[in-house]
Amino acid sequence: MKYGYFDDSQREYVITRPDTPKPWINYLGVDSFFGIISNTGGGYCFYRDAKLRRLTRYRYNNIPLDSNGRYFYIKDQASGEYWSATWQPVRKELDKYECRHGLGYTKIAASYSSIETEVLYTVPKGETLELHQVKITNSGNTVRQLSLFSFVEFCLWDASEDDRNFQRNLNIGEVEVEGSTIYHKTEYRERRNHYAYYHVNEAATAYTTDRFAFTGTYGSLEKPEAVETGELDKQIASGWSPVASHQIDVTLEPGESKTLVFVLGYAENEPEKKWQSPGIINKEVAHSSIKRFSTPESVEQAMAEIQSEWNKLLAPYLIKSGDERLDRMVNIWNPYQCMVTFNMSRSASYYESGVGRGMGFRDSNQDLLGFVHQVPERARERIIDIASTQLLDGGAYHQYQPLTKRGNADIGGNFNDDPLWLILGVGGYIRETGDIEILDEKVDFENESSLAAPLLDHLDRSFTFTLNNLGPHGLPLIGRADWNDCLNLNCFSSEPGESFQTTANQEGRTAESLMIAGLFVYAAKEYAEILRTLGKEDKAESVDAAAAKMVETIDVHGREPEWFLRAYDYFGNKVGSPECEDGKIYIESQGWCVMAGCGHQDGFARKALDATEKHLGTAHGLVLQHPPYADYHLNLGEVSSYPPGYKENGGIFCHNNPWIMIAEAMLGNGEKAYDYYKRIAPAFREDVSEVHGQEPYVYAQMIAGKAAARHGEAKNSWLTGTAAWNYVAITQHILGIRPGYEGLIIDPSLPADMGKVQIERVFRGCTYKITLQPAASGASPSIIVDGEVTHSNVITPQPEKTLSVLATY
Ligand code: BGC
Ligand code: NOJ
Repeated sequence: MKYGYFDDSQREYVITRPDTPKPWINYLGVDSFFGIISNTGGGYCFYRDAKLRRLTRYRYNNIPLDSNGRYFYIKDQASGEYWSATWQPVRKELDKYECRHGLGYTKIAASYSSIETEVLYTVPKGETLELHQVKITNSGNTVRQLSLFSFVEFCLWDASEDDRNFQRNLNIGEVEVEGSTIYHKTEYRERRNHYAYYHVNEAATAYTTDRFAFTGTYGSLEKPEAVETGELDKQIASGWSPVASHQIDVTLEPGESKTLVFVLGYAENEPEKKWQSPGIINKEVAHSSIKRFSTPESVEQAMAEIQSEWNKLLAPYLIKSGDERLDRMVNIWNPYQCMVTFNMSRSASYYESGVGRGMGFRDSNQDLLGFVHQVPERARERIIDIASTQLLDGGAYHQYQPLTKRGNADIGGNFNDDPLWLILGVGGYIRETGDIEILDEKVDFENESSLAAPLLDHLDRSFTFTLNNLGPHGLPLIGRADWNDCLNLNCFSSEPGESFQTTANQEGRTAESLMIAGLFVYAAKEYAEILRTLGKEDKAESVDAAAAKMVETIDVHGREPEWFLRAYDYFGNKVGSPECEDGKIYIESQGWCVMAGCGHQDGFARKALDATEKHLGTAHGLVLQHPPYADYHLNLGEVSSYPPGYKENGGIFCHNNPWIMIAEAMLGNGEKAYDYYKRIAPAFREDVSEVHGQEPYVYAQMIAGKAAARHGEAKNSWLTGTAAWNYVAITQHILGIRPGYEGLIIDPSLPADMGKVQIERVFRGCTYKITLQPAASGASPSIIVDGEVTHSNVITPQPEKTLSVLATY
């Protein structure tokens, strides 16, 4: 069952009923100001940091679900009836409802008793504000007298404090009103230098700034007292909960429309004025933004800029395959999600509260892989930020804070896979751009400029970190966890999760990871290529030798009869072996060991992937391990704390499915790779939206596994490494158009019945017009560039030129 449809020509998903299984959201903003918006107008916005600079209040875990946002009530003065232009919060049944989530904007259209509304929400490029444009039309044949009420509730900036320090919060709220602009000034006394405002380009009949005055002390957003009585009381909030609500009375003749532009903005006094005028907000900053967006034409202009920005961002990789589901994933929604995950990391969604996590070291390096071709300059900047937090021994802070860009000492490090992702992030960046100079860039260690060293040195320390942290079998020590945050194998205190031991215990043993072993070999290949590009052949050979040794170690200590082992725990017990009672086979080591090239020669890789399908495969994707743990095991940690079938305990963790797709593609099994791709790609799951539950246009982190009561139900949409890895799997390994150090690599691994696929790829200034088509029966694959047969599948870019490439598969 579906709740809408894709409108590819507009690059929109159109939701046709408001009561989707869960709120289906979108993001506004791409640079410094962001909004989260649901299909019923719910959500919140913030400047840069969802924790410290939150403009509007949102209550996670609320009843009813998703019941705070930027809302518009319409009241018919004659009948006294009122409703919401976005269905919530009044939830009156509408005659028509339609939500269009597009790239960087959301439009919600509604109609009730011959009054049509269309609300457009967006964040213009380079601005620190949201625009809410409301168009109301009288489509009936009598004159209508209406009141429109806007509503936003301010957050007192620090969202975490806002949610708990009530003895203080309820006294500090301050606002000011100037014409149709409501200023939220809380914190200005401490000269924190920022304020928010909500403005409408029309003289307001009335306003209120106090939540209780709007809802009534025991009232609700569903039935606000002020809307019921039909009049706002011009109250200036004094403490309690500051809000902004404008009342605009409008009379509409039959057929007449009125368009209002609301601006919800963030402003800072200019630095030089900061200390000169304590306690005074500099309204000029707001005035000038308001002036820029005072007309519908200015909104249209902002929308045109957003559209053209997305045209530019999406242009480097466009396909036409004959399957519209694949095309919309590759051309629109997957790259869009990659951009959002890159911006947000794992901070703010409907499942990440915005107050918890900062930027992840491994997360951001992976996000980069799906995003680098869209905005390479920002990827470069991100690499420098990440690498600046690296520790001198090559280890990494697991996270850093987006405002300060400093490593987060509370969380610390010891996730031993972390450093290796830097090699993949930097490699991905250089392959895309050819910007080898980045390796000479002096980058801090531990955020200390006195410790700065060339980026190449950071890569070297990342690489040697693994070699300096090998365990009793010669495999990499896992530390607190590897990619699987929940595999806490050094956990042996009597309190679950309390104590993590990462150095050898009295028996000289600590836990080791086969996933890191595979990742190390894979990263070593990338690193060796980087070194060869720099002409450092000797060093590259020593890297190859270390990788070869790790492959031998995997062969000896990492093979079970039919698949790769996952790990050894602190006591030296196997994890992910047929000998185990539960958790006999894990996905991560199958993916990474095969991607690393292990077992390709002797058929073991094939065997491992067959076992993966047999034990982990479901119609909804591949589960993370099998069988899930029925009980909690202290020596395994958090992984066994989840009920069977959820999250890392046998859920379908969509982030790691593409590793198997890539592994299959590497073994030449495009059929299987694409089959796995389709099982989890949201556009292919649209038809089962009632089971999947989450947005059909973006990936969720997890789909409940076969042991779960609600097998097939997705959770935690949007902010997940799933976006980048699936993008890499489909574009670079299945369609097989992959940036290399010397040129663009053409290496498709497609199902035989895929037919003809056309791809336009802009790479280092060169446009490649590529046609992939099945080879004639009996013929081997070939590549023809500009009419000439070539014997290499690496096509050197010719800047400013267009190359036509015909490849058979
Ligand atoms: C989640 C991870 C998170 C970890 C923290 C896991 O369940 O999947 O995203 O980092 O919990 O403990
Ligand atoms: C989500 C985290 O953001 C990611 O870094 C981790 O690898 C997965 N969870 C798996 O545990």
